Amino acid sequence: MARVTPGDLRVMKRRGERIPMLTAYDFPTARIIDAVGIPLILVGDSVGTTVLGYETTIPVTLDDILHHTRAVVRGTTHALVIADMPFMTYHVNPDEALRNAGRLIQEGGAQAIKLEGGRIVADTVRRLVACGIPVQGHLGLTPQSVFQLGGHRLQGKTSAAAQRILDDAQMLQEAGAFSLVLELVPAPLARQISEALAIPTIGIGAGPYCDGQVQVIHDLLGLDPSFQPRHARRYASLYETVRDAVGHYADDVRQGTFPSAAESFGMEQPGPLADVKEDR
Ligand code: KIV
Repeated sequence: MARVTPGDLRVMKRRGERIPMLTAYDFPTARIIDAVGIPLILVGDSVGTTVLGYETTIPVTLDDILHHTRAVVRGTTHALVIADMPFMTYHVNPDEALRNAGRLIQEGGAQAIKLEGGRIVADTVRRLVACGIPVQGHLGLTPQSVFQLGGHRLQGKTSAAAQRILDDAQMLQEAGAFSLVLELVPAPLARQISEALAIPTIGIGAGPYCDGQVQVIHDLLGLDPSFQPRHARRYASLYETVRDAVGHYADDVRQGTFPSAAESFGMEQPGPLADVKEDR
């Protein structure tokens, strides 16, 4: 099966096919997501909070995303892999953004990049697209602006704020973005944006009217029992599953029941160790 392209996503939108997208940060997870046939994988800077133990996504570096993108790309043959541009890797000027995005494509193997913001990044989006780099936009709650926004809060609640997000969405489409993540915005606003744009919108905490949905894989798998955002649905409880498995392993080692004879190896010619007794 050929890899999904930005053009395929527009066709899916036109046909009314809803688009699932998930984050992944490593080879085995990417391989599972790809095998299921999910068309979009995001190597999100959420790797900072889910995998690297940071409080926010701000400390994530380009090298972090490069490292995780390479692993995800190796685990996929079908999904379009989008690498997230970290904080301050695209803000200074379009040339620097181009150099950094180029590394994610050339060294990381990603087929597209994502960056946060509206009118402020429109020139950068235009430059990347002109150089052949597909760009996904990200509006609403933009976690790299968490200190300015004062937390991970719903955005676009007033009609002025909603109008600004709608205008930004249109500017990103005009600049050449192939799709747009809408995070934590009211469902009616996400609907209006989705209907106004030709490019697909992918929602997270943006209600049911987006063209697709994205979730952070750790939320979906229940890997952090202390974090259950309202917009996430837990499809598994892997924290408990892994905790129990690890606990059983430790018990078996302590009780001497692991490894068994079947999990151990003998010698064809015991030689000088012939007198060593196998007593288990
Ligand atoms: O980094 C990330 O995982 C994201 C998604 C929440 C869209 O940006």
